[in-house]
Amino acid sequence: MKKKLMAGNWKMNGSLQANADLVKALLAGLPADSSSAGCSIALCVPAVYLAQVSALLESSDVDLGAQDVSQHAVGAFTGETSAAMLKDFSVRYAIVGHSERRQYHHETDALVAQKALQALASGVTPIVCVGETLDEREAGQTEAVVKRQLAAVIHANGHCISEIVVAYEPVWAIGTGKTASPEQAQQVHAVLRAQLAAATPHAARVAILYGGSMNAANAKQLLAQPDIDGGLVGGASLKAPDFLSIIAAARVE
Ligand code: PGA
Repeated sequence: MKKKLMAGNWKMNGSLQANADLVKALLAGLPADSSSAGCSIALCVPAVYLAQVSALLESSDVDLGAQDVSQHAVGAFTGETSAAMLKDFSVRYAIVGHSERRQYHHETDALVAQKALQALASGVTPIVCVGETLDEREAGQTEAVVKRQLAAVIHANGHCISEIVVAYEPVWAIGTGKTASPEQAQQVHAVLRAQLAAATPHAARVAILYGGSMNAANAKQLLAQPDIDGGLVGGASLKAPDFLSIIAAARVE
């Protein structure tokens, strides 16, 4: 069985002190030889704290992630952070197309695809988020929506598509305490896997994470599904004991 990837998405939370406390508690709770944590772990932190968290994680195997990246390489784009800048801070992952950015910043499928392209060009792995709203699910459009979102990224990235991570995050499950059932999630993950398989012979190695109110109680069952390769964890990643129990559920024995 392949190693799961458990990524925390801090969103716009944290402070110098809170970050230091959280990372310290997490590292203290992980096995000393973190390869025996049995899964890969990443923390996707606000851009302004990348340097701080990079230093805090230096002697650990926990990877650093950003929550967004510019669709441009360099230049007059006030407020943006380029993939090369992320790379300067040893950032391994960048979330792109999170539903909060699609919703509040009007990010389109094409824009998200460009962000994934920029990340890959700088050696940063994009975590491409896809997911349907409640209205879309109720209208029977779940499959069409996630396929459209992923298709844009496949189209723009060609054979590099095997280098991405995908996160299926049903919008109605994010921060709501409502989780997709393991069966509902697996069904969508299988659709995404098949779509990747049509685009690359290496679809099996693409990690497809589930995100949306993942917690210590539901993680094990979700992660037991054949096409669920890890989790993108929001709220529960802000509390060390909660994130540690989710990580424990991801351990490959
Ligand atoms: P949640 O967020 O775990 O708080 O639902 C997940 C996410 O938005 O990545």
